[in-house]
Amino acid sequence: MWPNRRLCDLLKIEHPIIQAPMAGSATPELAAAVSNAGGLGSLGCASMLPDGLRHAARQLRASTERPFNLNFFVCPQPGTSDAVLASAIERLRPYYEELALGEPPARLPPMGPGFDDARLDLVLEIRPPVVSFHFGMPDSTAVDRLKTAGIVILSTATNVAEALKLADSGADAVIAQGWEAGGHRGSHAPNSPGDGVGTMALVPQVVDAVNLPVIAAGGIADGRGIAAAFALGASGVQIGTGFLSCDEAGTDGPRRALIRSATDMDTMVTDAFSGRAARAKRTRYALEMEQSRTQLPDFPQMIVLSAPLSNADARGDFAFHLYGQAAALNRELPAGQLVRTLVAETGEVFDALSTGKTTPA
Ligand SMILES: Cc1cc2nc3c(=O)[nH]c(=O)nc-3n(C[C@H](O)[C@H](O)[C@H](O)COP(=O)(O)O)c2cc1C
Repeated sequence: MWPNRRLCDLLKIEHPIIQAPMAGSATPELAAAVSNAGGLGSLGCASMLPDGLRHAARQLRASTERPFNLNFFVCPQPGTSDAVLASAIERLRPYYEELALGEPPARLPPMGPGFDDARLDLVLEIRPPVVSFHFGMPDSTAVDRLKTAGIVILSTATNVAEALKLADSGADAVIAQGWEAGGHRGSHAPNSPGDGVGTMALVPQVVDAVNLPVIAAGGIADGRGIAAAFALGASGVQIGTGFLSCDEAGTDGPRRALIRSATDMDTMVTDAFSGRAARAKRTRYALEMEQSRTQLPDFPQMIVLSAPLSNADARGDFAFHLYGQAAALNRELPAGQLVRTLVAETGEVFDALSTGKTTPA
């Protein structure tokens, strides 16, 4: 039924639906259920330690014989200057006082780059069928080693220039992430939250620019969105928020409740939690930090300063809940059933469009 099978053929999957790798929310159970239903299940491995990653990959392999994807952040080693840290501490001090948290941390722990040689060796040891990257591509030596191991490489672009860079650096397919998307923007360099290109505008321009399968991401949550992505020239979709309400997702209770009553206007793009732009629940903290911007510590060191606020806050003024603009379309279903529902809905939309019958609601 799919108008083009470029992504299905590349990834050796039945349906061109990728469950987004969502660090902290995508569990091995979720990824396995999606892969078993014919899509591509993914694990967000950015914050996993080596043993945790080995264990999660083992769990995933024990639950599915189908292809799956491991995802990593490609971000440089953070090196927040003392001056930036001092100004961020002054900016956050009133919030720490309000929540009776004492002094903000005076030091940021050293953190490595997102995808280093140790991570590469670990991926080569695990040998997932697919890896995907956020924030860019690793260096050419890493890309060569992954390709030699037969691993398919995906990465995210948020504009045409980034898509061209990915194609140049050896990506096998490009994830075109629109402004609607929940979670961190995959922009290749840190940028302030501002304008971004929406999925509807981004996907056809990326399709025209690169001779690779393009995966549409951002605001896609049902068969109408998937059919629209194909109409724009995409060869598949990556859905994050839509899987957050699945039984197998690691979504915590408060976020499930927020999504249950979500509206299209619930979220905003903010860098006030991690130091990089991410679409998350609009909160008092995110709004106030946006209203008076100061330079923040590098990603992900900013999390060390913001996490005590999010963790201590009972009212939700400081909560960090990542989800996207289409959350109100979410269904609370087991993941395999959601994949089957998405496939059936897309087929109905294709049929309705080709026969001129009323589009199903
Ligand atoms: C809770 C959450 C966590 C995310 N974490 C990651 C991640 O670890 N790696 C990644 O490449 N993308 C991550 N994303 C972004 C997704 O890959 C994808 O671009 C996005 O979910 C698509 O938009 P949608 O949420 O409207 O479906 C995350 C998204 C969400 C909602």
